[in-house]
Amino acid sequence: MKYYILFGPPGAGKGTQATAMVEKYNLHHISTGALLRKEIAAGTELGLQAKALIEQGCLVPDEVVEGMIENEFKTVSGVEGFLLDGFPRTLPQAEALDQILAKTSEKVTATVSIMIPDEMIMERIKGRALKEGRADDASEDIINNRIATYHNQTEPLIEYYNNAGTYNEIDGVGTIEEVQERIFTVMDKF
Ligand code: AP5
Ligand code: MG
Repeated sequence: MKYYILFGPPGAGKGTQATAMVEKYNLHHISTGALLRKEIAAGTELGLQAKALIEQGCLVPDEVVEGMIENEFKTVSGVEGFLLDGFPRTLPQAEALDQILAKTSEKVTATVSIMIPDEMIMERIKGRALKEGRADDASEDIINNRIATYHNQTEPLIEYYNNAGTYNEIDGVGTIEEVQERIFTVMDKF
């Protein structure tokens, strides 16, 4: 099994690019954000707990998303690998992922990181807000908090995966097709 991490700040284009990636490389897409939004829509206990945190632009507790990931690994088959979108997002999550994979003697195959400047994050998320109406896209304050959360809690993972030798950075500025080409060039190596 291959385990790809699709990394990047909010609004970088992870969800957008994931669609073509899963199709081309026969992967199962796991977006922890999408799984959490499903729980919220279904009104589950977990969804209720996650809702307030997500709507403030904060992260949900590590154990919550770690459990979701392990459950997906156990229940999905018939693919060549997994594409993790928005997970891991903290150092403890990265370490938990390594431990989950070690149970079956597996490892992260590659980290594909889509990078865009902070001003572009704001612009893209505001554009998406008009189309999708996500609660965490609703105000500049929430978006700024998501950007700050990314820099404080998630950015340290760049060093973690650089040290692990799996980090691949892609310039996320350009058309969707241009970014996709850059991603495919990297993915074709694995
Ligand atoms: P999540 O859903 O993962 O949100 P995110 O990381 O903030 O990322 P987005 O989904 O906002 O952006 P994206 O990179 O997918 O961009 P997209 O392709 O849509 O997480 C939401 C929340 O859930 C978190 O804040 C947290 O509370 C919680 N959560 C999730 N995972 C967690 C975890 N592991 N631990 C703890 N909490 C967790 O693109 C954005 C827009 O730009 C779209 O409109 C798109 O059409 C457009 N666009 C994309 N590419 C281009 C391009 N090249 N040119 C022009 N426009 C483009
Ligand atoms: Mg997304």
